[in-house]
Amino acid sequence: MPSYNLVRGADQFYAANEPPIGTPYPEDVYPQNAQLPVLFQPLMLRGTTFKNRIIVSPMCQYSSDHGSATDWHLVHIGGFATRGAGAICMEATAVVPEGRISPQDAGLWLDKQIAPLQRIVKFVHAHDTLIGVQLSHAGRKSSTIAPWMHSDSAKTRKAASWIHPKEEGGWPDGVYGPSDIAFSPEYPTPKPMDEDRMLYVEDEWIQAVERCKTVGYDFIEIHAAHGYLLHQYLSPLSNTRTDEFGGAPLENRMRWPLRLLARIRAAWDKPLFVRVSATDWAEGPERDADGTWRQWGPEQTKVFVGELQNIGIDLIDVSTGGLWVHQKIPVEPGYQVPFAEKIKKVYPNLSIGTVGLITDPLQAESYLRDGKADVVFLARELIRTPEWPLLAARKLGIAIKPANQHERGWAEMLTPRLDSTM
Ligand SMILES: Cc1cc2nc3c(=O)[nH]c(=O)nc-3n(C[C@H](O)[C@H](O)[C@H](O)COP(=O)(O)O)c2cc1C
Repeated sequence: MPSYNLVRGADQFYAANEPPIGTPYPEDVYPQNAQLPVLFQPLMLRGTTFKNRIIVSPMCQYSSDHGSATDWHLVHIGGFATRGAGAICMEATAVVPEGRISPQDAGLWLDKQIAPLQRIVKFVHAHDTLIGVQLSHAGRKSSTIAPWMHSDSAKTRKAASWIHPKEEGGWPDGVYGPSDIAFSPEYPTPKPMDEDRMLYVEDEWIQAVERCKTVGYDFIEIHAAHGYLLHQYLSPLSNTRTDEFGGAPLENRMRWPLRLLARIRAAWDKPLFVRVSATDWAEGPERDADGTWRQWGPEQTKVFVGELQNIGIDLIDVSTGGLWVHQKIPVEPGYQVPFAEKIKKVYPNLSIGTVGLITDPLQAESYLRDGKADVVFLARELIRTPEWPLLAARKLGIAIKPANQHERGWAEMLTPRLDSTM
């Protein structure tokens, strides 16, 4: 009888998985694995091997205790680690307390926030899965109430405002951004950041990166999308500064985000991702006939991503929207893929992620096979179906490793056979 195989170096009992959960079995036993879909081919980024191309997209849980992760996070994240995702990006995590979207947001501004995250990371690593975190600052979208406190999905109740009042733990008077333009009348009015404030946020961001090293994260994603602080600097709709960090010239609006990202790159030698919004989805063109930039869009994103490549960013996670309250998004399956594809065409050597209404394995595989992106990020489909990676393998006709404890649920996929359904 073979000896029981334990995860070496783990601080509690875990049964080791061979091959790692979410990776294909050898083709000598499983002939159907001779031709692997791109979705299940590994990707190497800065010396780190991502075992497949499925990444859990960051998802705010509004469930932290003064910024610290709770057992909710262990269960939520742990469920993805045991079900085959290649990597997990933990939710938007604030680098300073006032950079939280809501008081219940995750944070890494204190050393005591490290330990609960370490526990999650150890569990995820014991299940052969990479884990990173999205570091964020919400800027003018800070001090708001959690979505389910604002309104219910059935729309039977709705709060009068998104602002989280001071009496209940909010900080509407302490909200800042590039300019004094509120996201909407239902949001706090930000104070423009002076240069001391910018430097303070930069320094705190670097401190959070240092904490990520202690936590043991495999990668970091910087949130420069969805209308949060860095996107607020980039977009002419939210940045009307008249100094060297804003206003009409694109170079000015990019200056501070790039300075910050260059510092983060210097401080972090593992894979570094940046999530961008490739358009604000506001009415009208990105640029007027006279050359004035009207909103953030694909042309400026292209220039920005070029600068990110120069800095040494390893992957661009291409999303859209979130900055303009009146945005009109033509939502359909894979609606953000064309934005990723455009960037991939211009920067073929840069790894690109695509996200947004990717639900079907054949759909995901087609984007990767056609070279439109290198990885897919999934959020809502993984909420509904955390075992999506295993279902995807089954649908694509290959056999990948489930967790030992879950194998009996996957007997059909785990039957060796010559005929592939692909
Ligand atoms: C519950 C939930 C929380 C989210 N939180 C974040 C977040 O923390 N950071 C982020 O960049 N995007 C966040 N998003 C957006 C997702 O990462 C993703 O980009 C978006 O949902 C589109 O992908 P999907 O169609 O697969 O859900 C969140 C989405 C959901 C559903």
